[in-house]
Amino acid sequence: MIKVKELKKSFHSQTVLNGVDLDIEEGKITVIIGRSGAGKSVLLKNIIGLMKPDSGSIFFYDKDITKVSYNELKQIRLNFGVLFQDAALFDSLNVFNNIAFPLIERRIIKKKSELKKKVKETLKLVELENIEDKMPSELSGGMKKRVGLARAIVTNPKIIFFDEPTTGLDPITSMAIAHLIRDMQMKLSTTCFIISHDLALTFKIADNIGFLHDGKIIEFGDKNTIKNSPNPVVREFLESYFAGEENG
Ligand SMILES: Nc1ncnc2c1ncn2[C@@H]1O[C@H](COP(=O)(O)OP(=O)(O)OP(=O)(O)O)[C@@H](O)[C@H]1O
Ligand SMILES: [Mg+2]
Repeated sequence: MIKVKELKKSFHSQTVLNGVDLDIEEGKITVIIGRSGAGKSVLLKNIIGLMKPDSGSIFFYDKDITKVSYNELKQIRLNFGVLFQDAALFDSLNVFNNIAFPLIERRIIKKKSELKKKVKETLKLVELENIEDKMPSELSGGMKKRVGLARAIVTNPKIIFFDEPTTGLDPITSMAIAHLIRDMQMKLSTTCFIISHDLALTFKIADNIGFLHDGKIIEFGDKNTIKNSPNPVVREFLESYFAGEENG
């Protein structure tokens, strides 16, 4: 669905992405892992068109989104749902208006009664109920992530991008979010692209895993490919996690 080719991005003298090649397969969950500061969020921002790369291309099907006009990009982005690291809810809007926002903005649903129904259904998908009137400040971190997820899926996007969907959540809530993403992906067959350093989440739900290091994807494949990677950087990154698993 998305093909990234030779993507490069620098800030002043700092090279962050130095030739990223990546395939995001339709209907699959692709997770990008890597050290803090490796450039994962920068990669995501380039793919969704929030940042312009210095060179390289990003194909959404047959369209290179780095070359299209602003209006075309806006059209393409209608296929995208995004859940940012901090859920990025609008603080001044209640849960109902946060979730209904993309539907109203894109004029997908106009009738209030239909909006209400759709918001309720979507909240149910993320296992929440009767919280439409609450303000974001009244929600826990896990609830905010779920509401953010509801807002990301309410427009039935073809692909959902997640930046660290579980950061700041306890392990049990993190697993609940992981299951939610997996269930949703199975129910709606939405393509998912996730950036994470949560290895428990990654190994629970990923179909494909890419390891970003030194500005490149240095390893890519299914769980076993990553687990059995001969690359010392990948091995070192995974060691602490699997050491813990063996002891437990
Ligand atoms: N807008 C920007 N201007 C200048 N430098 C930036 C900008 N955005 C990111 N960077 C730099 O790019 C590098 C990669 O940042 P990025 O946020 O992509 O890391 P990350 O892999 O997502 O890390 P984390 O796991 O901590 O979220 C960092 O050194 C950061 O300082
Ligand atoms: Mg980041």
